[in-house]
Amino acid sequence: MSKRQKTPEQDIPTTGHSWDGIQEYDNPMPRWWLWTFYATIVWGIGYTVAYPAWPLVKGATEGLLGYSTRAEVAEEIAGFDAANADIRARLVATDLDQIAADPELARFAENAGGAVFRTWCAQCHGSGAAGAKGYPNLLDDDWLWGGDMEAIHFSITHGIRNEDDPEGEARYSEMPRFGADELLEPAQIDEVVNFVMSLSGAPRDAAKVAAGGLVFADNCAACHGETAEGDREQGAPNLADAIWLYGGDYETLMESVSEARFGVMPNWNTRLSEAEIRAVTAYVHGRGGGE
Ligand code: HEC
Ligand code: HEC
Repeated sequence: MSKRQKTPEQDIPTTGHSWDGIQEYDNPMPRWWLWTFYATIVWGIGYTVAYPAWPLVKGATEGLLGYSTRAEVAEEIAGFDAANADIRARLVATDLDQIAADPELARFAENAGGAVFRTWCAQCHGSGAAGAKGYPNLLDDDWLWGGDMEAIHFSITHGIRNEDDPEGEARYSEMPRFGADELLEPAQIDEVVNFVMSLSGAPRDAAKVAAGGLVFADNCAACHGETAEGDREQGAPNLADAIWLYGGDYETLMESVSEARFGVMPNWNTRLSEAEIRAVTAYVHGRGGGE
């Protein structure tokens, strides 16, 4: 059998392949298809000449047009920066209390502040700002140091108990280590912890509450307040509201009182611009717990 057969009916050459009696026509490729194919080859060669294409040991050929995605992104960012320069200047010039009153400014601060928060704050305070053990929830109305715009701005600018603030204005206070430094007997710590538990729920041992109240008045009220309502001057938490920074169970409270905690928050004035700090201040203030 010759390789090229003609089908008797139509006189069209076949390739000579036959599968179960089905034969393959040997038609030429459609012309439009061939030309498109050649055009893609020409285009491909032109592209590799014009644009970065061939990998080298380090980097790749640059291409005659000198195009780079990185340069394009940088240009885009510079464009956004320039477009926002005015509103950023306005954010810095406006009184903190007045930012919310200017809808355009408030919207900008909310968006820009959200971006700052997700980049710089979420790893400690949580992506939704709900906090974690030792990292305060910024959504509620319970503030260690204060929840108005001024107070939040100050906390973020200078940070808390850090030694890096160039202006040396980081918020500072230090709860004594009542157990570790033997300022109180273990029995007294046990009593005062039972007293603290009684303020927001059930003490572990009701018989110790009265004695614990005396220990509290002598050792704790100066910072946490006569009724344990807390003191923002010192960042001393309210101990009667059932909201805990570290935890309200017996073991955690024993640890808080024995060892003290000394939570540290970085200062942001060396890392963020004033406009960014103000934006994230407005963002935190607007989360719901702002005063
Ligand atoms: C390395 C962890 C860490 C990072 C990052 C961090 N914080 Fe904090 N932040 C803390 C801790 C810890 C405290 C509580 C300190 C204390 O015990 O007084 C705190 C406290 C605060 C407070 C005071 C809350 C109050 O109740 O008074 C604000 C406001 C705050 N952070 C905002 C921010 C913002 C905004 C950012 C991002 C720019 C940020 N934090 C990034 C750890 C962090
Ligand atoms: C010099 C001020 C000061 C004194 C005195 C003090 N505290 Fe504190 N206390 C603080 C501060 C500030 C914090 C915040 C935690 C930190 O150190 O980061 C705190 C935190 C706590 C916490 C953790 C609260 C939480 O939400 O998890 C407990 C519990 C507590 N104190 C109990 C006591 C008791 C009980 C005494 C007395 C025996 C006492 N404190 C005396 C300043 C003080």
